[in-house]
Amino acid sequence: MTEATTGEALPAGDPPKEAVGPLIRGLAVIRRLSLAGGRRTVSDLTRDAGLARSTVDRVLGTLVRLGYVRPAGRDAVLAPALMELGNAYLAASRLPGLLGPYADRLADELDESVSLAVPDADGVRFVHQAPRRRRMTAVFRVGDLLPAECAAPGALFAADWSPAQWERWRLRVVSDPGYAGFPVLPPDSAHGADSFEDRAAQARQKGWSADDQLIEPGLVAVALPVRDATGRAVCAVSVVSHTSRHDAASLCAAMPPRLRETAAAMEHALTAPPALGPVGTARTRLSDEGPELVESLARGLAVLTGFTTAAMSLSALAEATGLPRATVRRALITLAHLGYVAAEDRLFRLTPRVLDLGYACLARLTLPQIAQPHLTWLAGEVRDSASMAILAGDDIRYVARVPTERIMSVDITVGTRFPAYATSMGRVLLAGLGDADRAAYPARADLRPLTRHTVTSPVRLAELLDQVRRDGYALVDQELEEGLRSIAVPVRDRAGEVVAAVNVSTHAHRQTAEGTREAVLPQLREAAARIEHDLHIATRFARIPTA
Ligand code: PHB
Repeated sequence: MTEATTGEALPAGDPPKEAVGPLIRGLAVIRRLSLAGGRRTVSDLTRDAGLARSTVDRVLGTLVRLGYVRPAGRDAVLAPALMELGNAYLAASRLPGLLGPYADRLADELDESVSLAVPDADGVRFVHQAPRRRRMTAVFRVGDLLPAECAAPGALFAADWSPAQWERWRLRVVSDPGYAGFPVLPPDSAHGADSFEDRAAQARQKGWSADDQLIEPGLVAVALPVRDATGRAVCAVSVVSHTSRHDAASLCAAMPPRLRETAAAMEHALTAPPALGPVGTARTRLSDEGPELVESLARGLAVLTGFTTAAMSLSALAEATGLPRATVRRALITLAHLGYVAAEDRLFRLTPRVLDLGYACLARLTLPQIAQPHLTWLAGEVRDSASMAILAGDDIRYVARVPTERIMSVDITVGTRFPAYATSMGRVLLAGLGDADRAAYPARADLRPLTRHTVTSPVRLAELLDQVRRDGYALVDQELEEGLRSIAVPVRDRAGEVVAAVNVSTHAHRQTAEGTREAVLPQLREAAARIEHDLHIATRFARIPTA
């Protein structure tokens, strides 16, 4: 078994003879798509990956079947479900789950952004972000990779580097002077390679390190290591500020005491015994897939998502995935060769490099972007317009829309607002409010008649909202505009809170309201369920804005 610990470079040599070719090619295709920002024409992808077109087609066919890629015309697009791979690493590492709440609390206390990053070869990889809205500088996402010399945590990690690791870093600085391997690094970064060895030595002495506008003018950060029981820096916690509030010196002077308390609390949290992970959740979904499925690719990816705890044995992984030991073993050999798995004492761990497999680019999606393909599907199914809206004060605001024919006299586009009380999406969103807000709304809002059907009685509206809560959908018939009927359902986040509504709008004269409900509600619910499925995977560790 090749040993590829987190601190080692991508393998230069040939794959071991037991490596699984289709898995290597499949992961290469995912990597290429990720580097392209998540979307690429199949011909360009074929060229980038240096593979035969038929191979790329078969790989993409498999990834589409697994829900990891979506075909869109001539393009292949990474789908949010692919974030399952990064989620497996983030969950197994336990870092965001155990330490994230401490980072969030520190961000609240200081009113500055706080992040957690892990060492990844000669880079720094973010595994948690607690950003403040007023932040003016580059905002990195979970999964983003920065060169160690550019970010505050880098000098801390480099303080423990071996001569071989320094050598590898020097090689990279020379071979990639334009930082092409770090697409999220802003173009005006100061880099800091010249002073890096000095800064690493200082970090070793002082126990903390700073980034004085290395990433970007104005951005300052200070980082402390979080060490495990063996003294290894498993991650670093950074406080990120702006020169309009702190220069690097004042940040370092003001922060370390509270940062130190947090880092100490984090180190204590790391000693908590791991919860027993659910076993068997990742059983492969392959039994009746068609012949074009590249089985060994699908099984290799199932081994990745089969990790439920930080370090697992071959037998535990075979048990968790329901795959034969020999299959799991070859997949692990392949994943270790590519640097996605590290092997130590017969135990295997996922490495942070797994986050290169689409996670960082998918973590940049918004809820409307996640919803769009599902709304397109819905509009095609019901042959009417499909939309998504969120609550904006007493209005709804459209955040996504797939129009078919125009039914309304006004043109609806993203950004259009309507009064919530007279729309199906508004009623769903109002019905999803907490008890106090929902009860207060009908009495407070300005319920004007917009058509002769508009419900303007606060008492009646309150009854209708209760009804929507019970039914799980709202049907509104010609209350916003004569001739317009619409039906909406909620979209809920992982905690079950209503964060958006989706609807279908149709002609009121085509059929009865009951007919519309029967014809549309099942597909509408299916679309909302698909959106929620993607949203829940995407938000397990990343923040996805609702608009
Ligand atoms: C960040 O969390 O965005 C961050 C952390 C450390 C840096 C720069 C940015 O040096």
